[in-house]
Amino acid sequence: MQRKQKVLTLLCCFLTLTTIVLRYSYHESSSMYYLNILHGWSDSTLPNKPCACEHCVSEAHTSPWFDERFNHSIRPLMSENTVLSEDIYIWWQMLQQEQDPANLTAVMEELFKIIPSKEVYLDWGAPRCRKCAVIGNSGNLKGSSYGSQIDLNDFVFRMNQAPTAGYEKDVGSKTTHHFMYPESAKHLQPSTSLVLIPFKTLDLQWLISALTTGNITQTYTRVLSKITANKDKILIINPTFFKYVSNNWLENRGRYPSTGLLTLVFAIHICDEVNVYGFGASSEGNWHHYWENIEGGAFRQTGVHDADYEYNITRTLADIGKIYFFKGS
Ligand SMILES: *[C@@H]1O[C@H](CO)[C@@H](O)[C@H](O)[C@H]1NC(C)=O
Ligand SMILES: *[C@@H]1O[C@H](CO)[C@@H](O)[C@H](O)[C@H]1NC(C)=O
Ligand SMILES: *[C@@H]1O[C@H](CO)[C@@H](O)[C@H](O)[C@H]1NC(C)=O
Ligand SMILES: *[C@@H]1O[C@H](CO)[C@@H](O)[C@H](O)[C@H]1NC(C)=O
Repeated sequence: MQRKQKVLTLLCCFLTLTTIVLRYSYHESSSMYYLNILHGWSDSTLPNKPCACEHCVSEAHTSPWFDERFNHSIRPLMSENTVLSEDIYIWWQMLQQEQDPANLTAVMEELFKIIPSKEVYLDWGAPRCRKCAVIGNSGNLKGSSYGSQIDLNDFVFRMNQAPTAGYEKDVGSKTTHHFMYPESAKHLQPSTSLVLIPFKTLDLQWLISALTTGNITQTYTRVLSKITANKDKILIINPTFFKYVSNNWLENRGRYPSTGLLTLVFAIHICDEVNVYGFGASSEGNWHHYWENIEGGAFRQTGVHDADYEYNITRTLADIGKIYFFKGS
């Protein structure tokens, strides 16, 4: 009798412990990794979950609409080894119809002597849960009080002229990556990665110049001749990725994708969870920037983007549960 009781007690203890360990590890950020160790799963029997977040943005077979568009093998960033195919180079050079472009290979060689030449963010996999916030510039951020939840993300992406100083309560204060092109450039803190969206060879020459001699002061308009940015953190969007966003996601609507759409698809490629803020109109239907008071809207009137279709893509991603969309005030 006593022996039976002992065995039962032990069994109870063991079961409780196992449950606690399992529950605990399941709520860990690298839950799948620990579950794999506990269950002794081998690689071939792994549950097909590509990350450790609750939902993984890149997970296949959850939406045919998404699977048709998302291609994980497209590399978002340029490195010294990037080679553009002929058709991609021609498409890219046509975007702003640059006359007499410089030798791209030679420009890249020079550029990657100044900035890091290796590709980053190829570390995706089961143990990782990278949470990212993509912050658009919509006036719907005004009065939203999203600041503190935005700052909880591992990466916070901002774009073009977006300020944080004076708007922290609504937009947060953290910026890990700032997406810009020469004509929209602004000075950055040393902890922020400048992510250049190049539209032409001259844009890469501008970056070299802006970090060194400062002798390029003009593209199709005046540009900053010097830029304050941490050289060791600079990243360049790959024109191949640019064309992929235009073809696969935008289905060639508009002249080319906006900074917002490029940044959003970039996030889908290098993050596991994507939180989207500041996209679309405000509740009164205005398309102004959160730091401006003018009504009516800068973005819709640029003419080169298809704002409605881009917004439809964003809302569809939210509807199928791929991104979390915060619609603001
Ligand atoms: C994804 O992109 C690669 C590289 O361009 C291409 O070879 C492949 O066919 C694409 N996959 C799909 C499903 O379109
Ligand atoms: C472009 O530059 C590369 C590297 O400097 C060089 O090998 C190549 O011959 C150049 N191409 C042309 C067309 O001048
Ligand atoms: C800027 O300087 C570089 C080398 O110092 C030179 O190759 C380039 O032509 C100059 N560009 C302009 C616009 O003066
Ligand atoms: C996006 O556009 C399609 C086709 O025009 C439409 O059926 C769909 O409802 C739109 N989705 C959203 C989220 O607006």
